[in-house]
Amino acid sequence: MPNRYEAALNRIAEKFRRTAAAAAEAGIIPYRSAEGKWFASPYDGNSWWTGGFWPGLMWQLWRLTGDGFFREEARRVEGLLTEEFRSFRLLNHDVGFMYLLSCGADAKLTGDAQAETDLLHAASLLMGRFNPAGFIRAWNEPERTGYAIIDCMMNLALLYRASRDSGDPRFRLAAKVHADTTLREFQRADGSFSHIIEFDPESGRRVREHPGQGYALGSQWSRGQAWGLYGFALAARNLGEEKYLEAALRGARNFTAHIRPDGLTDCDFCQPADEERIDNIAGAIAACGLQVLSGLTGDGAWRDAAARLVDGLLEHCADWGEDRCGILTRCTASYHDDGAGRHTNILYGDYFLTEALMKLCGRDPDLWN
Ligand code: GLY
Repeated sequence: MPNRYEAALNRIAEKFRRTAAAAAEAGIIPYRSAEGKWFASPYDGNSWWTGGFWPGLMWQLWRLTGDGFFREEARRVEGLLTEEFRSFRLLNHDVGFMYLLSCGADAKLTGDAQAETDLLHAASLLMGRFNPAGFIRAWNEPERTGYAIIDCMMNLALLYRASRDSGDPRFRLAAKVHADTTLREFQRADGSFSHIIEFDPESGRRVREHPGQGYALGSQWSRGQAWGLYGFALAARNLGEEKYLEAALRGARNFTAHIRPDGLTDCDFCQPADEERIDNIAGAIAACGLQVLSGLTGDGAWRDAAARLVDGLLEHCADWGEDRCGILTRCTASYHDDGAGRHTNILYGDYFLTEALMKLCGRDPDLWN
């Protein structure tokens, strides 16, 4: 008899075996689902930052089931993503999310040589965004040359991997400079993280914090908190210094103190008490990062906290309906902008829920490594 996490994984594989073919027929990279259909990202076509989560999910399910359908579907989208190298101007620091979970997963799980070449290509694009004044530039607008964001702590995983695979320390050294700046400038005394900090691109001096996808300037956008705690856990594992582990632990204490009684996660930990705005993606990401922390510290309490989050998601927000596509409901892309989705299924929520379950079952292929 499989435990409830194994059972949930089997249901996820079964649902995607049934619904993924529609995405292939439509030739799209699914971003969200509604009314029984997959929809592509509303922004930037196949260069939008979330394109890697579909192949990442397919690789997770290939690892789980060995079913070649999932490998081929991952590779279909890997092909679409590598075509985006030509667009270049639309790609930004999120090449980490896009190519680590597509080319990186393929190279890691199958040894495919072209996938490895494409991974190193993507890492070189990320390196090209490194400003020696102390940070990796997030976005491309001319007025945002000095912007860096907390999400980038996850993209650094592409650089750690590239250094290991190529034997060239430059990628890791650049990642370390960015991680040090993030530690100094983004983490607050209570363990929470700012979303966006602007630096002077010449001197690296801090200019100001900007409001981002959370409730307000100085608030705690929950997905940003999850990126921070998972990103610093990965930094601790790859850069090996205690200060990154401590940063991840401070972030984890802050995050877990804000988990709702039902196990779900508010979109912002500072949102008004009467506002019912959930972002389950944040909880799913945190459930992954907390398990990495549990492995690094040997402290099972972090795994228990991850299980509490996953239990909340499975109990309240898993949609197993036959006539609908994705699984995790009540995902919210941004507090103030509903254009990218509010309280709906968003595919990267499904990705992180699956990764969290794979970790809980000891089956995780460790795609961020
Ligand atoms: N990396 C952008 C987001 O989390 O929405």
